[in-house]
Amino acid sequence: MPAVVVVGAQWGDEGKGKATDQLGSRVDYVVKFNGGNNAGHTVVVGGEKYALHLLPSGILSPGVTPVIGNGVVIDIEVLYEELDALIARGVDVSRLLVSGSAHVIAPYNRTMDKITERFLGKRRIGTTGRGIGPTYSDKINRVGIRVWDLFDEKILRAKVEGALEQKNQLLVKVFNRRAITVDETVEELLQYTERLRAMVADTSLVLNNALDEGKTVLFEGGQATMLDVDHGTYPFVTSSNATAGGVCTGSGIGPTRIDRVVGVIKAYTTRVGEGPFPTELFDEWGEFLRTTGGEFGVTTGRARRCGWYDAVIARYSSRINGLTDFVLTKLDVLTGIEKIPVCVAYDVDGVRYDEMPLDQSAYHHAKPIYEEFDGWTEDITGVRTFEDLPENAQKYVLALEKMSGTRMSSIGVGPDREATIQRFDLLD
Ligand code: GDP
Ligand code: IMO
Ligand code: MG
Repeated sequence: MPAVVVVGAQWGDEGKGKATDQLGSRVDYVVKFNGGNNAGHTVVVGGEKYALHLLPSGILSPGVTPVIGNGVVIDIEVLYEELDALIARGVDVSRLLVSGSAHVIAPYNRTMDKITERFLGKRRIGTTGRGIGPTYSDKINRVGIRVWDLFDEKILRAKVEGALEQKNQLLVKVFNRRAITVDETVEELLQYTERLRAMVADTSLVLNNALDEGKTVLFEGGQATMLDVDHGTYPFVTSSNATAGGVCTGSGIGPTRIDRVVGVIKAYTTRVGEGPFPTELFDEWGEFLRTTGGEFGVTTGRARRCGWYDAVIARYSSRINGLTDFVLTKLDVLTGIEKIPVCVAYDVDGVRYDEMPLDQSAYHHAKPIYEEFDGWTEDITGVRTFEDLPENAQKYVLALEKMSGTRMSSIGVGPDREATIQRFDLLD
Protein backbone atom coordinates (compact mmCIF):
# COMPACT_ATOMS: atom_id res chain seq x y z
CA MET A 1 0.00 0.00 0.00
CA PRO A 2 2.27 2.82 -1.20
CA ALA A 3 0.44 6.11 -0.46
CA VAL A 4 -1.75 6.47 2.62
CA VAL A 5 -3.40 9.65 3.84
CA VAL A 6 -4.37 10.32 7.47
CA VAL A 7 -6.75 13.24 8.10
CA GLY A 8 -8.82 14.54 11.00
CA ALA A 9 -12.56 13.91 10.59
CA GLN A 10 -13.91 16.40 13.16
CA TRP A 11 -12.49 19.71 14.50
CA GLY A 12 -8.96 18.51 15.22
CA ASP A 13 -7.21 16.72 18.09
CA GLU A 14 -8.74 13.37 17.15
CA GLY A 15 -5.44 11.57 17.80
CA LYS A 16 -3.85 11.86 14.34
CA GLY A 17 -0.39 11.96 15.93
CA LYS A 18 -0.88 8.62 17.61
CA ALA A 19 -2.36 7.07 14.45
CA THR A 20 0.60 8.21 12.34
CA ASP A 21 3.14 7.19 14.95
CA GLN A 22 1.64 3.71 15.14
CA LEU A 23 2.22 3.12 11.45
CA GLY A 24 5.68 4.70 11.72
CA SER A 25 7.69 1.50 11.89
CA ARG A 26 6.10 0.29 8.63
CA VAL A 27 6.40 3.39 6.44
CA ASP A 28 9.35 5.03 4.71
CA TYR A 29 8.18 8.67 4.57
CA VAL A 30 5.79 10.76 6.69
CA VAL A 31 4.73 14.00 5.03
CA LYS A 32 3.06 17.05 6.53
CA PHE A 33 1.19 18.81 3.72
CA ASN A 34 -0.85 21.62 5.35
CA GLY A 35 -0.94 23.97 8.32
CA GLY A 36 1.97 24.80 10.56
CA ASN A 37 2.64 25.04 14.26
CA ASN A 38 -1.06 25.61 14.95
CA ALA A 39 -1.19 21.80 15.13
CA GLY A 40 -0.45 19.99 18.36
CA HIS A 41 0.05 16.25 18.46
CA THR A 42 0.70 14.27 21.61
CA VAL A 43 2.39 10.95 21.04
CA VAL A 44 3.02 8.55 23.91
CA VAL A 45 5.67 5.89 23.39
CA GLY A 46 6.27 3.48 26.26
CA GLY A 47 4.99 6.02 28.78
CA GLU A 48 7.21 8.81 27.34
CA LYS A 49 5.19 11.79 26.11
CA TYR A 50 6.17 13.87 23.06
CA ALA A 51 4.40 17.07 21.96
CA LEU A 52 4.88 17.91 18.29
CA HIS A 53 3.63 20.95 16.40
CA LEU A 54 5.41 21.59 13.13
CA LEU A 55 7.22 18.30 12.71
CA PRO A 56 5.38 15.28 11.30
CA SER A 57 4.75 12.63 13.98
CA GLY A 58 6.73 10.12 11.92
CA ILE A 59 9.90 11.81 13.17
CA LEU A 60 9.75 9.58 16.25
CA SER A 61 10.22 6.39 14.21
CA PRO A 62 13.78 5.42 13.36
CA GLY A 63 14.12 4.80 9.63
CA VAL A 64 11.33 7.17 8.60
CA THR A 65 12.16 10.21 6.49
CA PRO A 66 9.98 13.08 7.74
CA VAL A 67 9.01 15.64 5.09
CA ILE A 68 7.58 19.15 5.41
CA GLY A 69 5.75 19.73 2.12
CA ASN A 70 5.20 22.89 0.09
CA GLY A 71 1.68 23.36 1.50
CA VAL A 72 2.97 23.94 5.04
CA VAL A 73 3.71 27.35 6.55
CA ILE A 74 6.92 27.28 8.56
CA ASP A 75 7.94 29.27 11.61
CA ILE A 76 11.65 28.56 11.40
CA GLU A 77 12.41 29.46 14.99
CA VAL A 78 9.77 26.93 16.11
CA LEU A 79 11.21 24.36 13.72
CA TYR A 80 14.63 24.65 15.36
CA GLU A 81 13.18 24.63 18.88
CA GLU A 82 11.30 21.44 18.14
CA LEU A 83 14.28 19.78 16.50
CA ASP A 84 16.57 20.71 19.40
CA ALA A 85 14.12 19.42 21.99
CA LEU A 86 13.99 16.05 20.18
CA ILE A 87 17.78 15.90 19.75
CA ALA A 88 18.12 16.49 23.52
CA ARG A 89 15.92 13.40 24.06
CA GLY A 90 18.04 11.28 21.76
CA VAL A 91 15.77 11.30 18.68
CA ASP A 92 17.58 11.23 15.34
CA VAL A 93 16.18 14.11 13.28
CA SER A 94 18.89 14.19 10.62
CA ARG A 95 16.71 12.87 7.78
CA LEU A 96 14.19 15.75 7.85
CA LEU A 97 13.46 17.25 4.41
CA VAL A 98 11.84 20.65 3.91
CA SER A 99 10.25 21.89 0.69
CA GLY A 100 11.91 25.04 -0.66
CA SER A 101 8.49 26.14 -1.89
CA ALA A 102 6.92 26.13 1.58
CA HIS A 103 6.01 29.58 2.87
CA VAL A 104 7.72 31.13 5.87
CA ILE A 105 5.80 32.65 8.78
CA ALA A 106 7.46 36.06 9.00
CA PRO A 107 7.44 37.84 12.38
CA TYR A 108 4.95 40.41 11.05
CA ASN A 109 2.46 37.61 10.30
CA ARG A 110 2.39 36.61 13.95
CA THR A 111 1.81 40.26 14.84
CA MET A 112 -1.01 40.58 12.28
CA ASP A 113 -2.69 37.38 13.57
CA LYS A 114 -2.89 38.72 17.12
CA ILE A 115 -3.92 42.24 16.13
CA THR A 116 -6.67 41.15 13.73
CA GLU A 117 -8.13 38.79 16.33
CA ARG A 118 -8.26 41.62 18.84
CA PHE A 119 -9.78 43.91 16.21
CA LEU A 120 -12.50 41.36 15.39
CA GLY A 121 -13.65 41.46 19.03
CA LYS A 122 -16.63 39.20 19.51
CA ARG A 123 -16.42 38.07 15.87
CA ARG A 124 -12.94 36.62 16.50
CA ILE A 125 -12.03 33.13 15.22
CA GLY A 126 -10.09 32.10 18.33
CA THR A 127 -6.93 31.36 16.32
CA THR A 128 -3.81 29.88 17.83
CA GLY A 129 -2.06 33.23 17.28
CA ARG A 130 0.79 31.58 15.41
CA GLY A 131 0.51 33.71 12.25
CA ILE A 132 -1.08 30.93 10.18
CA GLY A 133 -3.94 32.91 8.56
CA PRO A 134 -1.86 35.98 7.62
CA THR A 135 0.88 33.78 6.12
CA TYR A 136 -1.60 31.90 3.91
CA SER A 137 -3.18 35.27 3.00
CA ASP A 138 0.22 36.50 1.84
CA LYS A 139 0.66 33.31 -0.18
CA ILE A 140 -2.66 33.79 -1.98
CA ASN A 141 -2.01 37.54 -2.36
CA ARG A 142 1.34 36.65 -3.96
CA VAL A 143 3.40 38.59 -1.43
CA GLY A 144 4.56 35.58 0.60
CA ILE A 145 8.13 34.66 1.54
CA ARG A 146 9.18 31.15 0.54
CA VAL A 147 12.01 29.06 1.93
CA TRP A 148 13.94 29.53 -1.33
CA ASP A 149 13.88 33.31 -0.84
CA LEU A 150 15.95 33.03 2.33
CA PHE A 151 19.00 32.00 0.34
CA ASP A 152 19.24 35.21 -1.67
CA GLU A 153 19.38 38.32 0.50
CA LYS A 154 18.57 40.67 -2.37
CA ILE A 155 15.42 38.80 -3.29
CA LEU A 156 14.44 38.39 0.36
CA ARG A 157 14.79 42.13 0.95
CA ALA A 158 12.68 42.96 -2.11
CA LYS A 159 9.96 40.52 -1.05
CA VAL A 160 9.86 41.74 2.55
CA GLU A 161 9.62 45.30 1.24
CA GLY A 162 6.67 44.29 -0.94
CA ALA A 163 4.94 42.48 1.91
CA LEU A 164 5.42 45.32 4.39
CA GLU A 165 4.28 48.13 2.12
CA GLN A 166 0.56 47.56 2.69
CA LYS A 167 0.92 46.05 6.14
CA ASN A 168 2.65 49.09 7.54
CA GLN A 169 -0.13 51.32 6.23
CA LEU A 170 -2.60 49.10 8.05
CA LEU A 171 -0.53 48.84 11.21
CA VAL A 172 -0.03 52.57 11.55
CA LYS A 173 -3.26 54.02 10.16
CA VAL A 174 -5.84 51.42 11.17
CA PHE A 175 -4.37 49.55 14.12
CA ASN A 176 -2.44 52.46 15.63
CA ARG A 177 0.80 50.45 15.92
CA ARG A 178 4.40 51.21 15.03
CA ALA A 179 5.59 50.35 11.54
CA ILE A 180 7.82 47.28 11.11
CA THR A 181 11.12 47.91 9.34
CA VAL A 182 12.43 45.88 6.43
CA ASP A 183 15.85 45.70 8.10
CA GLU A 184 14.67 44.13 11.35
CA THR A 185 12.62 41.54 9.46
CA VAL A 186 15.36 40.60 7.00
CA GLU A 187 17.91 40.38 9.80
CA GLU A 188 15.71 38.05 11.81
CA LEU A 189 14.95 35.79 8.84
CA LEU A 190 18.55 35.63 7.63
CA GLN A 191 19.87 34.27 10.90
CA TYR A 192 18.04 31.00 10.18
CA THR A 193 19.30 30.25 6.72
CA GLU A 194 22.52 28.30 7.22
CA ARG A 195 21.05 25.48 9.29
CA LEU A 196 18.07 25.24 6.96
CA ARG A 197 20.08 24.85 3.76
CA ALA A 198 20.93 21.19 4.32
CA MET A 199 17.27 20.23 4.87
CA VAL A 200 15.87 21.85 1.73
CA ALA A 201 14.92 19.59 -1.15
CA ASP A 202 12.59 19.25 -4.13
CA THR A 203 10.23 17.21 -1.97
CA SER A 204 7.70 16.59 -4.77
CA LEU A 205 10.42 14.86 -6.77
CA VAL A 206 11.67 12.93 -3.75
CA LEU A 207 8.15 11.65 -2.94
CA ASN A 208 7.25 10.74 -6.52
CA ASN A 209 10.53 8.86 -6.91
CA ALA A 210 9.88 7.07 -3.62
CA LEU A 211 6.42 6.00 -4.81
CA ASP A 212 7.89 4.83 -8.12
CA GLU A 213 10.27 2.61 -6.14
CA GLY A 214 7.36 1.08 -4.21
CA LYS A 215 8.17 2.85 -0.94
CA THR A 216 5.36 3.57 1.53
CA VAL A 217 4.50 7.24 2.04
CA LEU A 218 2.13 8.45 4.74
CA PHE A 219 0.59 11.92 4.45
CA GLU A 220 -0.30 13.31 7.85
CA GLY A 221 -2.96 16.02 7.93
CA GLY A 222 -2.87 18.85 10.42
CA GLN A 223 -6.21 20.25 11.71
CA ALA A 224 -9.30 18.53 10.30
CA THR A 225 -12.23 18.37 7.89
CA MET A 226 -14.45 20.78 9.83
CA LEU A 227 -11.55 23.27 10.03
CA ASP A 228 -10.83 23.07 6.27
CA VAL A 229 -11.01 26.51 4.63
CA ASP A 230 -13.36 25.20 1.88
CA HIS A 231 -15.31 22.40 3.53
CA GLY A 232 -15.31 23.40 7.21
CA THR A 233 -17.46 25.73 9.28
CA TYR A 234 -16.26 28.87 7.50
CA PRO A 235 -15.23 31.44 8.71
CA PHE A 236 -14.45 29.51 11.90
CA VAL A 237 -11.78 27.44 10.21
CA THR A 238 -8.05 27.41 9.67
CA SER A 239 -6.59 28.83 6.45
CA SER A 240 -5.51 25.65 4.68
CA ASN A 241 -7.04 22.57 3.05
CA ALA A 242 -6.86 20.00 5.81
CA THR A 243 -8.93 17.49 3.83
CA ALA A 244 -7.52 14.75 1.60
CA GLY A 245 -7.60 17.07 -1.43
CA GLY A 246 -4.91 19.16 0.25
CA VAL A 247 -2.44 16.29 -0.02
CA CYS A 248 -1.91 16.77 -3.75
CA THR A 249 -1.52 20.55 -3.77
CA GLY A 250 0.40 20.51 -0.50
CA SER A 251 2.98 17.91 -1.45
CA GLY A 252 3.19 17.72 -5.23
CA ILE A 253 1.86 14.23 -5.88
CA GLY A 254 -1.09 13.54 -8.17
CA PRO A 255 -4.49 12.20 -6.99
CA THR A 256 -4.01 8.93 -8.92
CA ARG A 257 -1.15 8.03 -6.57
CA ILE A 258 -3.27 7.90 -3.42
CA ASP A 259 -4.30 4.39 -2.40
CA ARG A 260 -6.00 4.84 0.93
CA VAL A 261 -7.54 7.67 2.95
CA VAL A 262 -7.91 7.19 6.69
CA GLY A 263 -10.06 9.50 8.81
CA VAL A 264 -9.26 9.79 12.50
CA ILE A 265 -12.37 10.34 14.62
CA LYS A 266 -12.97 10.51 18.37
CA ALA A 267 -15.72 8.50 20.06
CA TYR A 268 -17.10 11.91 21.08
CA THR A 269 -16.44 15.43 19.71
CA THR A 270 -14.20 18.35 20.72
CA ARG A 271 -13.47 21.78 19.32
CA VAL A 272 -11.01 24.58 20.24
CA GLY A 273 -11.74 28.22 19.48
CA GLU A 274 -14.97 29.83 18.29
CA GLY A 275 -17.67 28.61 15.90
CA PRO A 276 -20.75 26.39 15.75
CA PHE A 277 -20.74 22.98 17.46
CA PRO A 278 -24.21 21.38 17.58
CA THR A 279 -23.51 18.58 20.10
CA GLU A 280 -21.54 20.79 22.52
CA LEU A 281 -22.30 20.06 26.18
CA PHE A 282 -22.44 22.76 28.82
CA ASP A 283 -23.39 20.44 31.69
CA GLU A 284 -21.50 17.95 33.86
CA TRP A 285 -21.18 15.55 30.88
CA GLY A 286 -19.07 18.12 29.05
CA GLU A 287 -16.91 18.38 32.13
CA PHE A 288 -16.75 14.57 32.38
CA LEU A 289 -15.45 14.25 28.81
CA ARG A 290 -12.95 17.11 29.30
CA THR A 291 -11.56 15.66 32.52
CA THR A 292 -11.61 11.98 31.58
CA GLY A 293 -10.32 12.64 28.06
CA GLY A 294 -7.69 15.18 29.17
CA GLU A 295 -9.14 17.65 26.68
CA PHE A 296 -6.74 20.57 26.97
CA GLY A 297 -4.91 21.94 23.91
CA VAL A 298 -1.34 20.83 23.19
CA THR A 299 -0.56 24.12 21.47
CA THR A 300 -2.32 26.81 23.50
CA GLY A 301 -3.34 24.90 26.66
CA ARG A 302 -6.94 26.03 26.12
CA ALA A 303 -9.72 23.81 27.52
CA ARG A 304 -11.38 22.05 24.58
CA ARG A 305 -15.14 22.36 24.13
CA CYS A 306 -16.65 18.86 24.41
CA GLY A 307 -19.79 17.13 23.13
CA TRP A 308 -21.27 13.81 22.01
CA TYR A 309 -20.34 11.97 18.81
CA ASP A 310 -21.88 13.50 15.71
CA ALA A 311 -22.69 10.95 13.00
CA VAL A 312 -23.67 13.68 10.52
CA ILE A 313 -20.09 14.99 10.69
CA ALA A 314 -18.71 11.46 10.33
CA ARG A 315 -20.77 10.89 7.19
CA TYR A 316 -19.79 14.28 5.78
CA SER A 317 -16.07 13.65 6.44
CA SER A 318 -16.34 10.28 4.84
CA ARG A 319 -17.73 11.89 1.68
CA ILE A 320 -15.47 14.97 1.49
CA ASN A 321 -12.29 12.94 2.00
CA GLY A 322 -13.34 9.77 0.18
CA LEU A 323 -12.46 7.80 3.29
CA THR A 324 -11.62 4.13 3.03
CA ASP A 325 -11.21 3.63 6.80
CA PHE A 326 -11.81 5.27 10.13
CA VAL A 327 -9.51 5.12 13.13
CA LEU A 328 -11.85 5.54 16.11
CA THR A 329 -10.00 6.98 19.11
CA LYS A 330 -10.65 7.39 22.83
CA LEU A 331 -13.38 4.75 23.17
CA ASP A 332 -11.99 4.21 26.71
CA VAL A 333 -13.15 7.71 27.70
CA LEU A 334 -16.80 6.66 27.35
CA THR A 335 -16.47 3.82 29.87
CA GLY A 336 -18.91 4.21 32.77
CA ILE A 337 -21.57 6.25 30.94
CA GLU A 338 -24.90 4.46 31.30
CA LYS A 339 -26.57 5.75 28.13
CA ILE A 340 -24.40 7.23 25.36
CA PRO A 341 -26.17 9.73 23.09
CA VAL A 342 -25.13 9.91 19.40
CA CYS A 343 -26.29 12.70 17.12
CA VAL A 344 -27.90 11.04 14.07
CA ALA A 345 -29.39 14.12 12.35
CA TYR A 346 -30.09 17.81 12.99
CA ASP A 347 -33.26 19.75 13.55
CA VAL A 348 -32.97 23.18 11.95
CA ASP A 349 -35.99 25.32 12.79
CA GLY A 350 -38.32 22.32 12.59
CA VAL A 351 -36.74 20.73 9.47
CA ARG A 352 -34.78 17.46 9.75
CA TYR A 353 -31.33 17.41 8.13
CA ASP A 354 -29.63 14.04 7.61
CA GLU A 355 -26.71 15.71 5.80
CA MET A 356 -24.59 18.69 6.80
CA PRO A 357 -26.44 21.98 6.18
CA LEU A 358 -23.94 24.07 4.22
CA ASP A 359 -25.74 27.33 4.82
CA GLN A 360 -23.87 28.59 7.85
CA SER A 361 -26.81 30.31 9.47
CA ALA A 362 -28.72 27.01 9.29
CA TYR A 363 -25.75 25.24 10.86
CA HIS A 364 -25.67 27.78 13.69
CA HIS A 365 -29.30 26.84 14.46
CA ALA A 366 -28.79 23.07 14.14
CA LYS A 367 -30.04 21.14 17.15
CA PRO A 368 -28.88 17.54 17.50
CA ILE A 369 -31.38 14.70 17.20
CA TYR A 370 -30.02 11.98 19.49
CA GLU A 371 -30.23 8.22 19.57
CA GLU A 372 -29.06 6.57 22.82
CA PHE A 373 -26.83 3.53 23.11
CA ASP A 374 -26.29 1.35 26.18
CA GLY A 375 -22.91 1.89 27.80
CA TRP A 376 -20.44 -0.44 29.58
CA THR A 377 -18.57 -0.28 32.86
CA GLU A 378 -15.63 -2.67 32.31
CA ASP A 379 -12.13 -1.18 31.99
CA ILE A 380 -11.26 -1.59 28.29
CA THR A 381 -7.76 -0.07 28.28
CA GLY A 382 -6.11 -3.51 28.24
CA VAL A 383 -8.33 -4.95 25.48
CA ARG A 384 -6.53 -5.73 22.20
CA THR A 385 -9.13 -7.59 20.12
CA PHE A 386 -12.60 -6.47 19.07
CA GLU A 387 -14.21 -9.64 20.39
CA ASP A 388 -12.84 -8.95 23.87
CA LEU A 389 -14.62 -5.58 24.10
CA PRO A 390 -17.80 -5.56 26.23
CA GLU A 391 -20.79 -6.37 24.05
CA ASN A 392 -22.24 -2.85 24.33
CA ALA A 393 -18.91 -1.29 23.28
CA GLN A 394 -18.91 -3.55 20.21
CA LYS A 395 -22.49 -2.52 19.45
CA TYR A 396 -21.59 1.17 19.81
CA VAL A 397 -18.69 0.86 17.34
CA LEU A 398 -20.73 -1.17 14.84
CA ALA A 399 -23.59 1.36 15.04
CA LEU A 400 -21.20 4.24 14.26
CA GLU A 401 -19.75 2.23 11.40
CA LYS A 402 -23.20 1.66 9.93
CA MET A 403 -24.13 5.36 10.21
CA SER A 404 -21.07 6.57 8.28
CA GLY A 405 -20.79 3.69 5.85
CA THR A 406 -17.02 3.56 6.44
CA ARG A 407 -15.41 0.75 8.39
CA MET A 408 -13.83 1.35 11.80
CA SER A 409 -10.50 -0.32 11.14
CA SER A 410 -8.74 0.60 14.33
CA ILE A 411 -10.01 1.48 17.80
CA GLY A 412 -8.06 3.43 20.39
CA VAL A 413 -8.43 2.39 24.03
CA GLY A 414 -5.68 4.52 25.61
CA PRO A 415 -2.99 7.11 24.76
CA ASP A 416 -0.06 4.71 24.46
CA ARG A 417 1.16 3.45 21.09
CA GLU A 418 0.15 -0.11 22.10
CA ALA A 419 -3.34 0.74 23.37
CA THR A 420 -5.14 -0.07 20.12
CA ILE A 421 -7.48 -2.71 18.72
CA GLN A 422 -6.62 -3.44 15.09
CA ARG A 423 -9.59 -4.81 13.10
CA PHE A 424 -8.27 -4.22 9.58
CA ASP A 425 -4.71 -3.46 8.55
CA LEU A 426 -4.41 0.15 7.36
CA LEU A 427 -1.44 -0.58 5.11
CA ASP A 428 -2.49 -3.86 3.59
P1 GDP B 1 -3.99 15.27 17.08
O1 GDP B 1 -3.84 16.73 17.03
O2 GDP B 1 -5.09 14.76 16.20
O3 GDP B 1 -2.71 14.53 16.85
O4 GDP B 1 -4.47 14.92 18.57
P2 GDP B 1 -3.89 15.52 19.95
O5 GDP B 1 -2.59 14.88 20.22
O6 GDP B 1 -3.97 17.01 19.94
O7 GDP B 1 -4.99 15.04 20.97
C1 GDP B 1 -5.30 13.68 21.14
C2 GDP B 1 -5.02 13.29 22.61
O8 GDP B 1 -5.63 12.06 22.86
C3 GDP B 1 -3.55 13.09 22.93
O9 GDP B 1 -3.34 13.53 24.25
C4 GDP B 1 -3.35 11.58 22.80
O10 GDP B 1 -2.29 11.10 23.63
C5 GDP B 1 -4.67 11.09 23.29
N1 GDP B 1 -5.14 9.83 22.69
C6 GDP B 1 -5.05 9.40 21.41
N2 GDP B 1 -5.70 8.24 21.23
C7 GDP B 1 -6.24 7.93 22.45
C8 GDP B 1 -7.08 6.86 22.92
O11 GDP B 1 -7.48 5.94 22.19
N3 GDP B 1 -7.45 6.90 24.25
C9 GDP B 1 -7.07 7.91 25.08
N4 GDP B 1 -7.48 7.88 26.35
N5 GDP B 1 -6.28 8.92 24.66
C10 GDP B 1 -5.89 8.93 23.38
P1 IMO C 1 -4.40 19.61 15.27
O1 IMO C 1 -3.53 19.31 14.09
C1 IMO C 1 -7.69 21.93 16.94
C2 IMO C 1 -8.30 25.97 15.32
C3 IMO C 1 -8.04 27.15 16.24
C4 IMO C 1 -9.04 28.14 15.68
C5 IMO C 1 -9.01 27.88 14.17
C6 IMO C 1 -8.10 28.81 13.40
O2 IMO C 1 -3.73 19.48 16.59
O3 IMO C 1 -5.70 18.85 15.19
P2 IMO C 1 -5.46 29.07 13.18
O4 IMO C 1 -4.42 29.39 14.21
O5 IMO C 1 -5.25 27.78 12.48
O6 IMO C 1 -5.69 30.20 12.23
O7 IMO C 1 -6.83 28.92 14.02
O8 IMO C 1 -8.53 26.54 14.04
N1 IMO C 1 -7.17 25.02 15.18
C7 IMO C 1 -7.15 23.81 15.74
N2 IMO C 1 -8.00 23.19 16.58
N3 IMO C 1 -6.60 21.26 16.52
C8 IMO C 1 -5.73 21.86 15.66
O9 IMO C 1 -4.70 21.19 15.11
C9 IMO C 1 -5.96 23.19 15.27
N4 IMO C 1 -5.31 24.07 14.46
C10 IMO C 1 -6.07 25.17 14.41
O10 IMO C 1 -8.30 26.82 17.57
O11 IMO C 1 -10.34 27.84 16.12
MG1 MG D 1 -3.91 18.41 18.27
